[in-house]
Amino acid sequence: MSEWSDESNLKVEAASHSPILTFDGVSKSFMHLGDTIEVLKGIDLEIYPADSLAVTGASGVGKSTLLNIMGSLDAPTGGTVKFNGFDVYKMGQRSLSRLRNREIGFVFQFHHLLPELNALENTMMPALIARYPRKRAVQLAENVLCSVGLEKRMSHRAGELSGGEQQRVAIARALIMNPRLILGDEPTGNLDWATGEEIAELLFHLNEEAGVAMVIATHNQKLAEKMSKRMELIDGRIR
Ligand SMILES: Nc1ncnc2c1ncn2[C@@H]1O[C@H](COP(=O)(O)OP(=O)(O)OP(=O)(O)O)[C@@H](O)[C@H]1O
Ligand SMILES: [Mg+2]
Repeated sequence: MSEWSDESNLKVEAASHSPILTFDGVSKSFMHLGDTIEVLKGIDLEIYPADSLAVTGASGVGKSTLLNIMGSLDAPTGGTVKFNGFDVYKMGQRSLSRLRNREIGFVFQFHHLLPELNALENTMMPALIARYPRKRAVQLAENVLCSVGLEKRMSHRAGELSGGEQQRVAIARALIMNPRLILGDEPTGNLDWATGEEIAELLFHLNEEAGVAMVIATHNQKLAEKMSKRMELIDGRIR
């Protein structure tokens, strides 16, 4: 079987101590106006359950590119990416959508919440996409909003929340499907220092308490130092 379709496969795999995510010789180039830009030049890495990994490096070095490939949002030019042992870029569209919806939570620098929806509705979105009954989706969203400290803000629309609260909603939305892996691309980059600290603390707490693996691209050295593993990208390679 080259692609998984059965959730139980994933649970069994993840229960063991095999890596969640494996990169084997991953490279990525972009073509731009006839030039080839080689961004990643053969990256090998493994992410295990409950890992927290910081990805640092100069602006333009390829951190977002790396996270996008990890999140199955963009295919590498070379090498292999495996999620729970399955070759991500050989999966069919349905498995790939399921992987993005259920196994990976994304938190970006800008929250990408839907402004016309309230905190609860934004958080529910992945559960509705997964065709959960509405009642169940509401219940899950309420639980996860409580766990990020937003029990009193559920009916506020995105625009009626502070920057830090919006980022908490984005984290709640990333968590609602109980993913194995959270990918954060500068999750504190758009927040003032104190709010950024709060969000960082929340992410560490989730990593420690819930054991969800986390990969965070950041320019914030203090945030990077708190992670259990760190990698710096230099000229397309890991230092
Ligand atoms: N779709 C694309 N087409 C062409 N070039 C691209 C594309 N996406 C990214 N690049 C180039 O790839 C390089 C890496 O970009 P990336 O966004 O991954 O950097 P980054 O490390 O996340 O930077 P920052 O810290 O500023 O967010 C940059 O030079 C960028 O211009
Ligand atoms: Mg970036």
